[in-house]
Amino acid sequence: MRWLNGEALCRRARKQKTDEYRNNEKQVTGYLLFSLATAVIGSLQFGYNTGVINAPEQKLRSFFNDTWVERYGEPISPGVCTIVWSVAVAIFSVGGMVGSFSVGVMANRFGRRRSMFLVNSLAIIGGLLMGFSTLCSSYEMVIAGRLVIGLFCGLFTGLTPMYVGEVSPTPLRGAFGTLHQLGVVLGILIAQVFGLEALLGSKTLWPLLLALTVIPAVLQCILLPFCPESPRFLLINLKQEEQARKALVRLRGSEDVSKDMQEMKEESAKMAMEKKVTIPELFRCAAYRQPLLIAVMLQLSQQLSGINAVFYYSTGIFESAGVKKPIYATIGAGIVNVIFTVVSLFLVEKAGRRTLHLLGLGGMAISALIMTVSLLLKHITAMSYLAITAVMLFVAMFELGPGPIPWFIVAELFSQGPRPAAMAVAGCCNWTANFLVGMSFPKLVEVCGPWVFLIFMTFLILFFIFTFIKVPETRGKTFDEIARCFSGSQPAASAVEDPLASASVVTTLPASPVKEK
Ligand code: GLC
Repeated sequence: MRWLNGEALCRRARKQKTDEYRNNEKQVTGYLLFSLATAVIGSLQFGYNTGVINAPEQKLRSFFNDTWVERYGEPISPGVCTIVWSVAVAIFSVGGMVGSFSVGVMANRFGRRRSMFLVNSLAIIGGLLMGFSTLCSSYEMVIAGRLVIGLFCGLFTGLTPMYVGEVSPTPLRGAFGTLHQLGVVLGILIAQVFGLEALLGSKTLWPLLLALTVIPAVLQCILLPFCPESPRFLLINLKQEEQARKALVRLRGSEDVSKDMQEMKEESAKMAMEKKVTIPELFRCAAYRQPLLIAVMLQLSQQLSGINAVFYYSTGIFESAGVKKPIYATIGAGIVNVIFTVVSLFLVEKAGRRTLHLLGLGGMAISALIMTVSLLLKHITAMSYLAITAVMLFVAMFELGPGPIPWFIVAELFSQGPRPAAMAVAGCCNWTANFLVGMSFPKLVEVCGPWVFLIFMTFLILFFIFTFIKVPETRGKTFDEIARCFSGSQPAASAVEDPLASASVVTTLPASPVKEK
């Protein structure tokens, strides 16, 4: 009984501390939301360009054919047409790999905000190349445009989460981090809807559908000059303390930003010792090994879950499961995708990253199993409903954790020094796995038939086990506290002062990362 009372007291004190912490730091201002919304336009672009290519496939193929006839006086062979088509689809991910790998260099050289501004020129070039391809009778322009757009999206998959992570108050970093994924899923949904035949997915309008990406790029360029540079970049990288303070005051809507400044200065002092970290150094230094492994594995868990097999090929999957109007089921999946990203946004600061990621991976594994059953028994009419349910569940579970979390947790696992390099490596792994799944899925379907989702189920189970054993909870911790957890050094000063706080640091982290030296 006495133990129970003690426990209750402890819980109440902890709650009090959490409330206090939240009241102090939950400074959500209109200016912060404006800056976040501007940055997230980049995520929307990534989603749009991921989803846009599927619907107009047949129109693009006939454009390739028309061009071929015009040039060579004979129709294109089906084999060559498929090659040109696959290249146009896949070259996007190749651009993404290169782009994401260049994030670190750009973000450190030009800063977060200016990089976003400059990178938009790629969207304008890519959009125009694709938009004028029919006028110039050149399918090469579609391919070149997709490559440039891939580069652009690759850069934004690093820049947006980095900027969002750096300007958000600590207690809301997860919720705001999820905004990147919300932008992505909204972009996919917009592309699915605009791609309908009755809208821009028609024989004449598809170049406009592909070129539409220019509009958000221009909009973001107009808005970015009104956003602040990341205060962390200003203080830690440029040593411009006064500028950083000014930016924070506007973002937080309060003159008292001493706590944020203090935290950044601690990190800065630590960084003065560790200096800027390049990608080779990231691999060489033992202190980064554990967080790097986690960052890479989480990115792989996102892509090897098979989510893009669904987003690239859902219409085909629904068709083979006997669904009558597959395009609407695909749009339905897009809507579920958006809804559950919003659910995750609200849950992530309550349930924590680790729990949601585990829940998502487990739920996806079960959905993959149900999907396999429905594909195996497709001769039973009712199975098409089961297939739709399984796909929706698969997507919903993805968005609870494996969709949003890997994108922002990388920014959380590393301090300012190694962060850009880590984001580059993680992003590049994500894009490479994305490319591999996108390219190999049609072949895998040929080889495995209805069993194909069992491959993803196996991956999901393995990633579940990994997450359970290795991934720490990062909710509510400052960047410095997280970094200390991995380096095995003493907890941050604030945590030492407060036994309750330090207790919670220890109890929420699984044993291995804490012990890691
Ligand atoms: C994530 C993935 C992306 C996928 C999307 C689906 O952002 O990185 O590849 O298409 O989620 O919602």
